[in-house]
This record gives sequence, C-alpha cells and structure tokens, in this order.
Amino acid sequence: LHALRGMTLHFNDDPGTGDEPREGSVEFHQDGLVIIQEGRILHSGSAQELLETLPEGTPIDHWANQLIMPGFIDPHLHYSQLDITASYGRQLLDWLNTYTFPEECRFSDRAYADEIANAFLEQLLANGVTTALAFCTTHPASVDALFSAALERNMRMLGGKVMMDRNAPEALCDTPETGIRDSRKLIEQWHERGRLEYAITPRFAPTSTPEQLTATGQLLSDYPGMVLQTHLSENLQEVDWVASLFPEARDYLDVYSHYQLVRPRAIFAHGIHIDDDVRQRLADDGGAIAFCPSSNLFLGSGLFDWRSAREQEVRVGIASDIGAGTSFSPFQTLQDAYKVGQLSNQPLTPWQAFYAHTLGNARVLDIDRHVGSLAAGMEADITVINPRATPMLARKDRHDPTLMEQLFNLMILGDERCISATYVMGKKLHDTANN
Ligand code: GUN
Ligand code: FE
Repeated sequence: LHALRGMTLHFNDDPGTGDEPREGSVEFHQDGLVIIQEGRILHSGSAQELLETLPEGTPIDHWANQLIMPGFIDPHLHYSQLDITASYGRQLLDWLNTYTFPEECRFSDRAYADEIANAFLEQLLANGVTTALAFCTTHPASVDALFSAALERNMRMLGGKVMMDRNAPEALCDTPETGIRDSRKLIEQWHERGRLEYAITPRFAPTSTPEQLTATGQLLSDYPGMVLQTHLSENLQEVDWVASLFPEARDYLDVYSHYQLVRPRAIFAHGIHIDDDVRQRLADDGGAIAFCPSSNLFLGSGLFDWRSAREQEVRVGIASDIGAGTSFSPFQTLQDAYKVGQLSNQPLTPWQAFYAHTLGNARVLDIDRHVGSLAAGMEADITVINPRATPMLARKDRHDPTLMEQLFNLMILGDERCISATYVMGKKLHDTANN
C-alpha cells in the first residue's frame, strides 16, 4: 500500500465542447490523494478525507502543487520511426519511400529493433505516456522487440506486425499467406500476455492487395474483439491512388468496409479528406479516427475537421503519429490540435484536450475499464505534471491561473520538462529528479 498526494485531476466523462465542463465530468482535488494497492488504485479523492483511512506509516509520495493525472494514452504512432522523426522536405508518399521504408528495413535486425523499442518506451514515459497503440514493421521480430521491452516495464501496450504485400520494397513485403501466418503466431505468443494486446495491422489500402485485405478480414473474424489499426484519407495523392487501385470502391473507407474492417476497435489514423457520408458510416459502424495534428501539419497533409466529426458522433482520439509527428509530448500534440482548430474558429478547450488524451483515448481503444482515470479499481498508471517547470510557465503561474488556464498554459507552453514522474502499475519508472 502506498499513496501519491498532490492536485489530482481526472475525467469521469466527456466534458463537452463548452468553456465550462459538463457537470460531473471533471474531478479535481486541490489537495488530493491517490491510494495504490498492488498496482491498482484503491481510492482517490480529497486528502483530508482519505488520509484518515490510511494505516499509520503508509509511504506517501508528496507532489506539492503538482498535478497528478492518469497516464496519457497515444492511440497512433510507429515505434520503428523513432529515428526518422524530423525528416526533411517530403509529403506522405515520397516521405514513405525516401525515409520510412529504408528505416523500417533495418528492423530485420533484432538487436536494432530492441535498441529502438527500449528508446521508444523511455521517450513515452519521459512524456507521461503510459499506453500506446503502435505500428511495428513487417518483421515479426519487430513485435517481439516492442512487446519484450513493454513486458519488462509492465506497460499496457498495444501493437502489431505491419502487413503489406505490394507497393513497398521487396524486403518489407509479406504475402497474404505469410502476413496472416505470422500475425497468428504473434497473437498466440503475445496477445493478453501481461498487459499486452495484439493489434491487427494492415498498413493502408495502397500496400495491400485485395487478397491480403480479404485474408485480414478473415483473421479479424477469428478475433472479433481485437484492435485493428490502419491509415485512412491522409493525403490527396494517396486518396487518388486508392481510387485508382480500387476502382469499384465508392471511396477510401469503402475499401476497408468491403473487407469487413470497419467496426468498433478499428482505429483509422488521420481521416482528413473525408465527407459527411464517410463520417456517417464511421459513426454507424463504430470505427474511430486518430487525429494526428503534428503529423498532419509536418507532412502538409491537411486540416482535420474535429467539429464535424463530433457533430456526426464519430469517435475521435488524438495521437502523435511519431515519426511523421514531431513530438512524443501530449502537450505539443494538443498545441497543434488547438492551432488547427483555430484555423476554422473551433478552438479546442483544455477540458476537451486533456479528456481526449486520457479517458477519451482509453474509450476509443476500449481499454477504459483498465486505464484512463484515477477511479477506484483502475490500474495505477499515473503521470505527475509540474505546471511551473519552465521559465515561461513559471511566469504564467505568477498570475494565479484558474485550473482551466493552468491546463491551457501546459498544452501551449508545456513539454517533457513538465513531467516530474511517471508511474506504471504504481511503480515509478521515470523521475526527472533522478535523471
Ligand atoms: N500511411 C501509410 N503508412 C504510413 C506511415 O508510416 N505514416 C503515416 N503518417 N502515414 C502512413
Ligand atoms: Fe501513422
């Protein structure tokens, strides 16, 4: 039994889009306590009330005037692209051919994959991110590397082997048969081991033949509860290419629908160039979009329309999309989301932003019974945030900000320097004091 004391903040529900959060959606305690037993949250709430219930001598990590929040969740990124982050001068399709595919070829070397997987997880933790849904590469060993490293840290991690059998270097292509066979083996080996979840991972429509997509649909029908991750309508040239590769399809999403891939727990990264009709089908079928603002800006892909998605009740998560995205920091991702929203006069509220990166993303991945809040029974994945960590934030803090202002300052001015500590299942795995 141990506890964390500080300003506790989590969401019980979607706060809505107004400047005032919906009644009951935000739970904040200026002097809060999170009690942890065997890696799970036993209670959280007001320290005054809960301290009495603690047995004498229970160790308490006291984070005075720091924010204690559920660990952040990143529902779309590529661990194999760690080292090609900040690759110059190309948009999506050229970026893939010039930088991404050559880098992914290196993951045939297990030692290299291990090195990147460990560095990747350390980056997540340094940024307060405790759970992610990650693309690996075509190589089964790339999944072994990620999951071994996550298992060592007892992290809740979701990932899968990329399936692609055309329009990529030979060294990165599988076949409909080997793609499914290797995925099945990996599922048997890793799925639901510790806190790991396998995710079925066709890269995107242009790199899979109809045969591979058919086989993917069959694989998914054997594992109906499993996460599927892919990309959708990110770039206009990509959209045109999909139309020429799949002339019978009504649009890009329809390619995936045709193979029964659009369903709850299907995560479609980007979804920028879509219309009301596509949004309606996503909402009806339960598929979710991972909004990746820094990636969408970095690759010049376009501006995601969050308001329309919300209005049509499409599930939307927010993600870094490293290595096309440029930061692991949820604060930086939220900053870009805010700026994209401003371009169409739809500023993202801090409530919506921090909800999205915690409980919202947990709901999108359907893991909110495990993580995403500080409620009793949740796994104790927690991040501690110093709202005065940088000189600029310290200046802002002298003006007595409200909680909403403090959160806004963090998402506009914050970065990994604001993460004081990250706990995974109650265990402190990252601590700036020790670094
Ligand atoms: N579409 C297909 N593959 C990728 C990828 O690796 N990154 C991004 N941003 N888009 C993709
Ligand atoms: Fe991506």
